[in-house]
Amino acid sequence: MPRATTVFVCSACAAETPRWMGQCPGCNAWNTLVEENRGAAARKGGGGAPRAAATRPTRLAEVAAERHARLHTGIGELDRVLGGGLVPGSLVLLGGSPGIGKSTLTNMALGNLEGAGRKTLYVSGEESAAQIRLRAERLPGAALQVPVLAETDLDTVLATMEAEAPDVCVVDSVQTLHASDLTGAAGSVGQVREVADRITRVAKQRNIAVLLVGHVTKEGALAGPRVLEHLVDCVLQFEGERERTYRTLRALKNRFGSTNDVGVFEMKSGGLVEVQDASARFVGEATRAPGSVVLAAMEGSRPLLVEVQALVSPSELVPPRRVVNGIDRNRLALVLAVLARHAGIGAGSADVFVNVAGGVRIDEPGADLAVALAVASAVRGVTMGESTPIACFGEIGLTGELRSVAHDDRRRAEAAKFGLSPVLSPGPETPTLRAAVRAALGAPLARVAA
Ligand code: TYD
Ligand code: MG
Repeated sequence: MPRATTVFVCSACAAETPRWMGQCPGCNAWNTLVEENRGAAARKGGGGAPRAAATRPTRLAEVAAERHARLHTGIGELDRVLGGGLVPGSLVLLGGSPGIGKSTLTNMALGNLEGAGRKTLYVSGEESAAQIRLRAERLPGAALQVPVLAETDLDTVLATMEAEAPDVCVVDSVQTLHASDLTGAAGSVGQVREVADRITRVAKQRNIAVLLVGHVTKEGALAGPRVLEHLVDCVLQFEGERERTYRTLRALKNRFGSTNDVGVFEMKSGGLVEVQDASARFVGEATRAPGSVVLAAMEGSRPLLVEVQALVSPSELVPPRRVVNGIDRNRLALVLAVLARHAGIGAGSADVFVNVAGGVRIDEPGADLAVALAVASAVRGVTMGESTPIACFGEIGLTGELRSVAHDDRRRAEAAKFGLSPVLSPGPETPTLRAAVRAALGAPLARVAA
């Protein structure tokens, strides 16, 4: 019988090496070697004629599909993003940077499930049981009733999951568990893949809904476990600035629901609190000053009003600073170029700071116009809108034209709900950025001049 050995296989060209290397000797790609347990595969396989008897495929119409009742986590925003709650036996990957609140969210969810009479299990490879207890003491509901297992050995975790057979199990985090038959360190790509693979098998066999927590790197990718995304049923991303209070939860992949929904939370001293009226919050906090404008954004399928702020200040630096928070840096560069070239408003060699208030991240082209108007009003030192802030949305093209974006009516309706008018958007009256800037700044400018 061949000995169980591990080899490192390049995920790009499938070359094999006995040892891990940074660069694949086959195709010279970097960081593509992944550890594989070759001994086990060799025992199972062997080549030649197929060993199993053929089975008959079934027509889809004849397949018995059970409609599972969803498990409600008691956290409305989480249930909504999941598409109506957790599906029994499903695997959900929850990604987010350290300190964003993944452990808090999963602790609260398990507490609620436990309170509703479900069996739960919280596996932590990051914190001791005592640390978890200290957190749970701050949380509402039955968080203290959740059974915990502080363990990093994968075999022990799997055996416990099988023995306890919980309805819902949280593994915090997938990068801290270690499969002893692989040599790589916990958190390496090979380890993470093996850990997730074996947890999936137990979860499907025992019908356990598993929430896998994963850390993301600074660049926003799930550290190591990008390989996990195809394996799991649902990928949730928990985002926000750690120092700010607002956090958003969105689905990047969802086999049981849409990826359009976004949940908004606020981190308070007693855990995460759902923010259902996010627009009201952000509009209520909006400042009436030069450089501030309200963006009617779409967060998935939900309209959301957020304040976009800009500050333009003289600089000695070459090149001047372009600092963004909550929007894409390249988008700001484009907007500044079009503003200067087509609307006659140049930031020149000044520093430009753009910030989406509340720590929300807006990832859609509809934010362009808000960024442009915020910068324009900061450059001119003019407050936009008469008595209420103006709201806007629209994409900016390179030739200075405004391009329409999806869900025009829903964005307008949301702005109207909060009494914001006018709403500047691509249309016959404002076909270009120049026209929109004039509409936003024109009237007050004239009044200042008079
Ligand atoms: P945590 O859930 O541990 O983050 P993660 O698991 O994603 O790394 O919590 C993150 C932060 O939230 C932590 O710095 C403390 C803070 N926090 C509160 O502000 N209020 C609370 O009730 C709790 C439990 C945590
Ligand atoms: Mg944590």
